[in-house]
Amino acid sequence: MRPRTAVRAGRRVGRFTGVTSLERLLDERLGAAFTAVAGEQVDPAIRRSQRADYQADAALSLARRLRRNPRDIAAEVVRAAELDDLCETVEVAGPGFINLHLAASALERLLGEVFGDERLGVAPVPEPEVVVVDYSGPNAAKEMHVGHLRSTIIGDAAVRLLSWLGHQVVRQNHIGDWGTPFGMLVEHLLDIGESEAAHELSVGDLNAFYRAARVKFDADEAFKERSRLRVVRLQAGDPTTRRLWHVLVGESKKYFLTVYSQLGVLLTEADFRGESSYNDQLGPVVDELTELGLLRLSDGALCAFPEGFKNRDDEPLPLIVRKRDGGYGYATTDLATIRHRIRDLHATRLLYVVGLPQYQHFEMIYEVAREAGWLRAPVRAEHIGHGSILGADGKMLRTRAGDSVKLVALLEQAVSRAADVIAVKNPGLDAQTRAQVAQAIGIGAVKYADLSTDRSKDYVFDLDRMLAFDGNTAPYLQYAHARICSVFRRAGLTYPVAAADIRIGEPEERHLAVQLLSFGDVVEGIVDSLEFHRLAGYLFSLATAFTNFYEKCPILRAEEPVRTSRVALCDLTRRALATGLGLLGITAPERM
Ligand code: ARG
Repeated sequence: MRPRTAVRAGRRVGRFTGVTSLERLLDERLGAAFTAVAGEQVDPAIRRSQRADYQADAALSLARRLRRNPRDIAAEVVRAAELDDLCETVEVAGPGFINLHLAASALERLLGEVFGDERLGVAPVPEPEVVVVDYSGPNAAKEMHVGHLRSTIIGDAAVRLLSWLGHQVVRQNHIGDWGTPFGMLVEHLLDIGESEAAHELSVGDLNAFYRAARVKFDADEAFKERSRLRVVRLQAGDPTTRRLWHVLVGESKKYFLTVYSQLGVLLTEADFRGESSYNDQLGPVVDELTELGLLRLSDGALCAFPEGFKNRDDEPLPLIVRKRDGGYGYATTDLATIRHRIRDLHATRLLYVVGLPQYQHFEMIYEVAREAGWLRAPVRAEHIGHGSILGADGKMLRTRAGDSVKLVALLEQAVSRAADVIAVKNPGLDAQTRAQVAQAIGIGAVKYADLSTDRSKDYVFDLDRMLAFDGNTAPYLQYAHARICSVFRRAGLTYPVAAADIRIGEPEERHLAVQLLSFGDVVEGIVDSLEFHRLAGYLFSLATAFTNFYEKCPILRAEEPVRTSRVALCDLTRRALATGLGLLGITAPERM
C-alpha cells in the first residue's frame, strides 16, 4: 500500500537573502533574461557544470513549450542577460545549454565578501522558526540498536544545521519507557534484587537483563501472571511499582547519556521526553478526536481511519487509538507528541528522525493530525527516514548471538583503531593529543560514514573503509584541515587571517575558489531535504580541490602578493572545512 504523498503543507523555505551566493546571482541575472525572452516567469535552472563553471538549462524545456528552437532561445537569452561583471565567457552549447565561465575578477570580489564574514557568507534566517527534532529514541532497559545510532547521528546534524541558521531548535528524545514490557522488567528487577539490577543496567548490560526477563516470561506462567498484574499496578500509579520503574528507566538513561557523550552529540538529560511523559495527554487526545467524529469502533478497538490509507484488500486502514483492553499504544502517544509540539511548543516544523520502516506510522499520524486541524499550514511535519546499518554479511548489524551489537563497544573499537592509525602516521604526538585526535577521528569516521550515505539507503559498517585516509571519509577531510593548520605552524603564521587580497591565477586556484563560493548554496540547498550526504559530498570535493591546489601551487615559497593570497585561500578552506564538518557534528583537529 502506498499512501498518497505527504502534502508539504505551506512554504518552501525561501532563498536566504543574506547568503553570498554565486548561484543566486546567476539565477537572478539569467532569470530576468529568460523572463524577458519568454514573456513569463522562468526558472533558469542553474547548476554546476562539468564543462564550464555553471550552466543554465531552461532553454530546452522552454523551447518545447514555446515551440521554438532551443538554441535560438538560448542565444537570445545570452544577448539579453547582464553578465559582464560575473562571467568571462558565456556560450550556447549542444542542444541549447548556456555555459557560464566565471571571471577571475568576480571570483576575487565574492571571495573577499565571504572571507570577511565569519559565517562564510551565510546569514542567519530572517524569520527563525521553532523546530522540534525528535531523534535517538532508544528503548529503556534495552540496548540501543544501530537504528538508534543512525537516528542520533542524523538528528544531531539536523539540530546543528538548523541552530546555526538561527532557528530555535527543541530537542526531544522520545525514549520507549512505557508499555507492557515494563511489568515483566519490574518483576525481574524484584527477583534479582534492586542493587544487582542497578549494577547490570549501569554497566550497560541491558541485553542480558532484558533477555533474562524475557526468558522467564516465556517459560514461567506464574512470572507471566505477575508481570501482567505489575503492568496494571504501574499504570494505576502504585508507589512501589513506580519507584522500581524509575530505577529501571533512570539507569537506562544514565547508560544512554554515556553513549551520547562518547558520540559527542548535543542530547542531554533535559531532552528526555519519553513515552511516559504523555500519559496524562492520552485520554484528552482520544476525547478530542472522538468529539471531532474521527474515531470508530472496530473489533472492540477505537480507531482512526485516516484518508488515503488502504490495506491490501483496498479497505480503509485503521490506526488504533485505544486498544480493546482500554490501553493506549505507540500510535496514541505519537498523536499526543504532534499535538503537544504544535499546541504547547508552538513549533512550525516537526522532524521525526526515525527508521524508514516507520514511514507509514508517521504518515498516518500526520494525516490524523491534519484531519483534527492540529497540523495546518504553515506548520509541517516530516518523517526524516533512514535505512539501516548492515554487517559485512549484508544483514542487519548484530552480534553472533543475534543480539543488537553493543554500541559503546562499537564506538570504542572505532576510537582504538583510529589511535593505532595515528600512532603510525604521527608518532611525535604526545599521549594526550593522540587520545583527543583518536577520539575525533574514530567518532568522526563513524558519523561521516553515516552522513555521507544517502540516508534512505542502507550501508555496511566497515571500519577499514571508514578510517581510510583516502576516499570520501572523515579522516581525508580532517587531514586536509590539519594539513592547512600545519602550513600555518611551519610558517609561524596565525589564523584566522585578518584580511586579504585574494587573486586568482592558476586553474587550481580557480577551481578551489568556485568550490569555496558554493558553501552557502550547498548549505542552503539541504535545509529542506536534510540530505546531509550533499554537504558531505561538497566537503569532499572541496578537500579534493584543496589537495590539487596544494600540490600544484607553492604557498609559502610564492612571491608576494601571490603568497598572501594563497595563504588566505588556505585559511578560507580551513574555515569552510571546519564549519562544514562542525555542522555534521564532526571535530576537525589541528594536527593528526
Ligand atoms: N522508541 C522508538 C523505537 O525504538 C523510536 C521513537 C521515535 N519517535 C517517535 N516519536 N515515535 O522504534
